[in-house]
Amino acid sequence: MSEQEGRAGDELTRHLLELGVLTPEWAKVFRAVPRSLFLPDLFWAYDTSTGRSEPVARDDDPAGWARAAYENIPLITQWDDGQHAGTQPGDKPTSSASMPSVVASMLCDLDVSDGMRVLEVGTGTGWNAGLLAHRLGGADVVSVEIDPAVAARASGALARAGVAPLVVEGDGRDGWAPGAPYDRLIVTAGVRVIPPRWLEQTRPGGLILAPWGTHYTHQDGLVRLTVGEDGRAAGPFLRMVEFMKLRDQRLDWNQFVGHVKEFPGDADVSSTALTAADVGGRYDTADFVAGLCVPDCAHVVNQGDSDEPGDAKAWFLDIRSRSWAAVVFTPGAADATVHQSGTRRLWDEVEHALTWWIDRGRPEYDRFGLTVARDGGTTPWLDDPSNILPFAGA
Ligand SMILES: C[S@@+](CC[C@H](N)C(=O)[O-])C[C@H]1O[C@@H](n2cnc3c(N)ncnc32)[C@H](O)[C@@H]1O
Repeated sequence: MSEQEGRAGDELTRHLLELGVLTPEWAKVFRAVPRSLFLPDLFWAYDTSTGRSEPVARDDDPAGWARAAYENIPLITQWDDGQHAGTQPGDKPTSSASMPSVVASMLCDLDVSDGMRVLEVGTGTGWNAGLLAHRLGGADVVSVEIDPAVAARASGALARAGVAPLVVEGDGRDGWAPGAPYDRLIVTAGVRVIPPRWLEQTRPGGLILAPWGTHYTHQDGLVRLTVGEDGRAAGPFLRMVEFMKLRDQRLDWNQFVGHVKEFPGDADVSSTALTAADVGGRYDTADFVAGLCVPDCAHVVNQGDSDEPGDAKAWFLDIRSRSWAAVVFTPGAADATVHQSGTRRLWDEVEHALTWWIDRGRPEYDRFGLTVARDGGTTPWLDDPSNILPFAGA
């Protein structure tokens, strides 16, 4: 590691301490297991505000590479499940070194102590597994990665960093039974369906920390579940995050091609007094809550290519049928125009959910939580597991 990387690493650790996302105990581990050791010579720096990714190549710009390695940003390390080559960004990011502040806060949320056994799902670069292995000892940390090339790279980086968790190439949905029971299970990919194996392999009283969400939005609510004696698990959402999803749990947007044949086509037309702001946006609790309440619905907000009135449209798409809804928000108009088509009245469902949430004073996401049954079925609640959200399928 170069001197510049060492200085940049110290600066990042100080920054994370100042942000309050790192404890002094974990700060020591961050200093001992430097992020740059886990990064490939070419990665893409991801700008979370614009969604753009810029290639950073060590050979072309060693100083820029070292700087980016220790910025508090996610770094994409693989596109399109490894099918993409070249320096330009691919279509879909499929592996990364997560944002350091997210890594730090999740490790603190995991609340580990000496002697605990931890399973990580989503090895990626191996940095998080390396941090855990330094803290707990390699013999007590297992990390599962689905992509063989990614798993092999991570194993090499871990060996170079002098830490030795067990890296298993496999589907993390199965956990890793030979190492069970675990005291902690940490998932570093977005989850839409919680696999029952995770509950089976975590000991009663143990914790599962996972970015969980619905297909309504790409964002995830980081949920911390405590596994009970009965094999179920429950716990609160801690904060909003956004992870690339488990391989088989990605939303396939191609399924909606041809979904909306014509606009407005065969749709019924009505109106709504809710505004574009009520529908919410990225990282808004409104988005998250609508997703909890309206099952099997994806949505996308299209701001249009111009500032012309009427251009902002919110689309709602049923992932199991061809039902859809679109709402056109015209600046200055009292009401927005609603188009709905198919057997499900998707906007009616979303409006009902948002109205319920607004009427309760717009409770923030951290007042919500989740109960997970032994078969993986999820029940969201507000404030207390007994206060189940009053929506069919929620
Ligand atoms: C955001 S990255 C993980 C970051 C990583 N923990 C680190 O420290 O660099 C997500 C990883 O999950 C992996 N993944 C996706 N689906 C998976 C699955 N079903 N089982 C195991 N790993 C999976 C991806 O290949 C990717 O490497």
